This record gives sequence, structure tokens and C-alpha cells, in this order.
Amino acid sequence: MPKITYIEHNGTEHVIEVRSGNSVMEGAVKNNIPGIDADCGGACACATCHVYVDEAWRDKTGTASVMEESMLDFANELQPNSRLSCQIIVNDDLDGLIVRMPADQH
Ligand code: FES
Repeated sequence: MPKITYIEHNGTEHVIEVRSGNSVMEGAVKNNIPGIDADCGGACACATCHVYVDEAWRDKTGTASVMEESMLDFANELQPNSRLSCQIIVNDDLDGLIVRMPADQH
């Protein structure tokens, strides 16, 4: 299974194996990784699964859809590499992906 590294805002790293087909958000929630709230359960309707995709992985994770872009406007501390982790679906090409969590999800 692809390994995803989640880095909390305080620098704590969690390396988790996430099943292909699950979202990066689901990988975090199922493994109780702090820093991703995912209030809407992955419906692209809350922006509380905001992450920063490591620069080296931006191409492979693709670009946000129009709907994701509009939800991202509700996230704090938006950066060019901001994504909603429920909209990044894990596959073998994302083995080694690194995402960082913002200071908070509100
Ligand atoms: Fe709500 Fe991602 S979990 S937008």
C-alpha cells in the first residue's frame, strides 16, 4: 500500500499506509492523525481537511477542481500548494506523498 507522510503543524510526522482508492483525508481519519477534522466526511463541503502538498508532489496530486477551489476559499492560511485532502485519491503513484497540516482547520 502507498505510504503517506502526514506532518502536523508542530512538526510531528506520521507515516501511514493508505489503501489505494481511499482519499488522503480518509487515511488520516482512519488512523487518528490529528490536524484533519473532515467535518463533512469527504463531500468537499467544509474545508476542514485542508493540507499543504509538499512541493515535490504537486504535479502528481494534480490540481483542484472548480468546486474544491471554491471550498478552499473558506480555509485559513491558504497557500499555492493548498488542497482539500478528501479530494486527493491515493494510488500507487502517490507512494511517498508528503502533506503538512495547517495550524488549525477553521
Ligand atoms: Fe469536508 Fe474535505 S472533508 S471538504
